[in-house]
Amino acid sequence: MSIAGPGEGAPAHRTACVAAPGCDATSALLAPWLTRRSTGPRKLVAPGPGPGECALLLQAAANVSDHGRLRPCRIVPADTDQRERYAQAFLAYAAAARGLACAALLDAQVRDEECAKAFGAPCLLSVVARIATDVPQVPPHEQWMSVGASLGAVLGAATALGYAGKALSGPRVAHPAVRAVACGAGEVLACFVYLGSRP
Ligand SMILES: Cc1cc2nc3c(=O)[nH]c(=O)nc-3n(C[C@H](O)[C@H](O)[C@H](O)COP(=O)(O)O)c2cc1C
Repeated sequence: MSIAGPGEGAPAHRTACVAAPGCDATSALLAPWLTRRSTGPRKLVAPGPGPGECALLLQAAANVSDHGRLRPCRIVPADTDQRERYAQAFLAYAAAARGLACAALLDAQVRDEECAKAFGAPCLLSVVARIATDVPQVPPHEQWMSVGASLGAVLGAATALGYAGKALSGPRVAHPAVRAVACGAGEVLACFVYLGSRP
C-alpha cells in the first residue's frame, strides 16, 4: 500500500500535522497506528487485556466499515475451556500433518509446542468470518475487506491500550477440528490474534 504525501490527494489541513515534524500531539494520538509492530505469542507476557478491555476491542472490531451491515466478522475471546479445546485440536492437526494416526504418537516436544500455541499468550482471540455469497451488491471481496478492517481495529485498539500482539493463521486454521472450536457452519477461522505485554 502506498501512502499519499502532502499534496498528493489529501486536503492540506489534514496533512499539515503529519507533514510537520515535531507535531507531538498528533504523533501521540496516532502512535498506536504509526508505530505498531507485531510481537509473537512466545514473547508475550502478562498482563493481557482483561474482560473489560476485551469488550472494548470487540466494540472496535464491530465498529468498522461494513457494506450492507452484513457483519462478516466475529471476534471470539478464548476462555480456559476454549483454550483446552484448541490444545486438543492443535494436537489433532499436528498428528494429521505428520501422517500419524493419533496425537498420542506425537513426540513430547511437538506436544508442548502445540499446547503453548493454545495457552501461551495472556489473551487469545479467534477471528471468525462469515462471507455471504447471496448478496450481489456486497461481493465477497468487500466482506473480506471488512473482516480485515476488524482485525486492524483490534490490533490498533490493543496497541492504544498498551498491549502488543500478532495475527497468526497457518495451515492449522483450516483443520476441521481447529475450525470447529470457534466456528459454526459456513464460517471460516480467518486467524488468531495473540495479545499480551512485551517483556
Ligand atoms: C490474517 C493474517 C494471518 C497471518 N498469519 C501469519 C502466520 O501464520 N505466520 C506469520 O509469520 N505471519 C502471519 N501474519 C503476519 C503477521 O501477523 C505480521 O503482520 C507480520 O509478521 C509483519 O509484522 P508487523 O505486523 O510487525 O509488520 C498474518 C497476518 C494476517 C493479517
